[in-house]
Amino acid sequence: MGSMNFSVNKERCISCEACVSDCPYFVLTMEEDTPAAVADRESLCIKCLHCLTVCPTGAVSINGFDPDDCLDMENMFPEADKMETLIRGRRSVRKYQDENIESSVMERLLQVAWQAPTGVNARGVLFTVVDDKEIMERLRRAVMTRLAELVRDDKLPEQLEFFAGFAKLWEEQGIDILFRGAPHIIITSAPKNCPCPEQDCIIALSYFELFAQSLRLGTVWDGLAKLAFTELMPEFNEQLGIPADHIFGYVMAFGKPAVEYHRTVPIRPAAINKVTFE
Ligand SMILES: Cc1cc2nc3c(=O)[nH]c(=O)nc-3n(C[C@H](O)[C@H](O)[C@H](O)COP(=O)(O)O)c2cc1C
Repeated sequence: MGSMNFSVNKERCISCEACVSDCPYFVLTMEEDTPAAVADRESLCIKCLHCLTVCPTGAVSINGFDPDDCLDMENMFPEADKMETLIRGRRSVRKYQDENIESSVMERLLQVAWQAPTGVNARGVLFTVVDDKEIMERLRRAVMTRLAELVRDDKLPEQLEFFAGFAKLWEEQGIDILFRGAPHIIITSAPKNCPCPEQDCIIALSYFELFAQSLRLGTVWDGLAKLAFTELMPEFNEQLGIPADHIFGYVMAFGKPAVEYHRTVPIRPAAINKVTFE
């Protein structure tokens, strides 16, 4: 046992070598009939836990994780038809109920979405979440007030002058285009020195969105809020708790939907470029 705490239950191990052959960094080897860590390669382990999950008999544990604590996947993946309907039927929701998502549902959603893959398994993504509609209301008002100031002082950059229209809609009709009136938002960020911070942030929100919709929650990618926080009022980021050494990933607004969609969109054929490489 070394720094990655790799251990094998010899009573369960059937010497199939699945863990050894699936290790992406060749950290494992067979010592006689038993898998073991190669001492001078342990530091290469990226903690992906493939060795633990590929083992058919639950013999491998690593980094303190016990295979008996994991979910068994037998017959638990969604049917392809259901998965396809989820992907085809997911819509951007722009009308929300004025209600919080229950805290247990929120917690499950965040924990599941955080399982999304990250480059080199860095797992650096931070979820900055507004999980309470009263806090969201304060944030919404503060952002709209700041936006109104920027409009009044003629400080909107030329390419973002269209934000003036959003300030007007809020002021005159109470319509919130920036957050679509949602009770919650999530912002992903990741350390700049992660291998793939931008991609990790987007992938995490893609998983978040699909799992949210499977829980009958609504989501919308919020490019306007992202522009507001990155281009117009970056001073908010400190108050939101986004670390200064993080890249700002993306914003997603979400909550219980106040709109229901009944059918998928008509088939839109994919743009496919089939390579004929001779
Ligand atoms: C990167 C990205 C940014 C988006 N930004 C916004 C936004 O700021 N506000 C909004 O209402 N919708 C936004 N959307 C939603 C798109 O307008 C929407 O996905 C598209 O119209 C297709 O509709 P659907 O998501 O219901 O299939 C965004 C979508 C993506 C992928």
